Amino acid sequence: MELLSRFRFVAICLLLLSGQVLQTLCVSVGINYGQIANNLPSPTQVAGLLQSISISKVKLYDADPRVLGAFGNSNIEFIIAIGNENIVNMTDSTNAQAWLRQNVQPYLPQTKITCITVGNEVFSGTDTTLMSNLLPAMQSIYGALVTLGLDKQVNVSTAHSAAILGNSYPPSSGSFREDLVQYIQPLLSFHSQIKSPFLLNAYPFFAYKADPNGVPLEYVLFQPNAGSTDPNTNLHYDNMLYAQIDSVYSAMKAMGHTDIDIRISETGWPSKGDSDEPGASIENAATYNGNLLKRIAMNQGTPLKPSVPIDVYVFALFNEDLKPGPTSERNYGLFYPDGSPVYNIGLQRYLLYPSLASSSSKLMVAYGLGILIIVVAVFV
Ligand SMILES: *[C@@H]1O[C@H](CO)[C@@H](O)[C@H](O)[C@H]1NC(C)=O
Ligand SMILES: *[C@@H]1O[C@H](CO)[C@@H](O)[C@H](O)[C@H]1NC(C)=O
Repeated sequence: MELLSRFRFVAICLLLLSGQVLQTLCVSVGINYGQIANNLPSPTQVAGLLQSISISKVKLYDADPRVLGAFGNSNIEFIIAIGNENIVNMTDSTNAQAWLRQNVQPYLPQTKITCITVGNEVFSGTDTTLMSNLLPAMQSIYGALVTLGLDKQVNVSTAHSAAILGNSYPPSSGSFREDLVQYIQPLLSFHSQIKSPFLLNAYPFFAYKADPNGVPLEYVLFQPNAGSTDPNTNLHYDNMLYAQIDSVYSAMKAMGHTDIDIRISETGWPSKGDSDEPGASIENAATYNGNLLKRIAMNQGTPLKPSVPIDVYVFALFNEDLKPGPTSERNYGLFYPDGSPVYNIGLQRYLLYPSLASSSSKLMVAYGLGILIIVVAVFV
């Protein structure tokens, strides 16, 4: 074969691989798209931003129609939310069905809504009425999904703070707070029955901030460190996030459940904080999120569940200027509101050079296709 035509075939190959297939090969990481701000770009601009980096999943704190409309045909999966203020209302099946007809049905299938969270961190709050209404609201939403024939494509869950744990160390001794067991036991039965994931918001940053002298920074930032070994299981932990996840697996097991997946619905690190918020810095935020991304790209599981890759939604997409609380609360974003990165964690790099370590079946198909094209080229 002539050099020129061989070159042409190889070029076509590379084009095919880079243009069509590599787009889908990026590391599968989610991001929380919070909007407690007065200066964020439009949802259409955000859709463009997210498609230029390797973000495949987005979690919202509401069901903003502008966002759900802007992401039609985007191939990005969505977790949408029913706010705590709407939980009691949703216990009524007519209201639940009306909510789905208005906020979910019109966007399917163009916008890939795959999960609805009912409430956020309800069990770590103080409102016991809300706690009692949470599961009935989830059941009511699930019943309405069944009625509308959507229960196979949309999960129902709720997101928890790690503060629902009474004990978290060592991970094998993880247990839920005693006073919450009455709510969590039936919730776990529900997850098990409908096969939906347990969502955990986990922030090793809080542990470090509370005890910077006792908690090694390297351990929370996924950097080389001695780690800790669980005396009951002999499992070794080289970072706190994995220890937190496994303590929740242990807490569920103690209540009879080994059949429920855990997903990290929020984790992150602030790039700025007040003087009494040690650890909050651009450098640490870049290290935490950058190292986390590497772990995700490796398809790594926790020591207790090595074959179950961690599934993570980073908090958050943007710095949100109207969030109340300490300075850190307004500085969790990977991006400033103008769309420029607060720091570089290599999301672009993952898009351009998907690591073989993350070899998914898609990757194999891609390389298979490439080889096939080369073989065809050689024999033509
Ligand atoms: C209850 O939910 C329905 C359906 O979304 C909605 O139309 C109604 O306004 C809600 N009521 C309250 C009091 O929020
Ligand atoms: C719902 O959650 C289960 C358990 O985590 C998971 O296997 C399934 O893929 C999820 N469904 C959708 C539509 O995301």
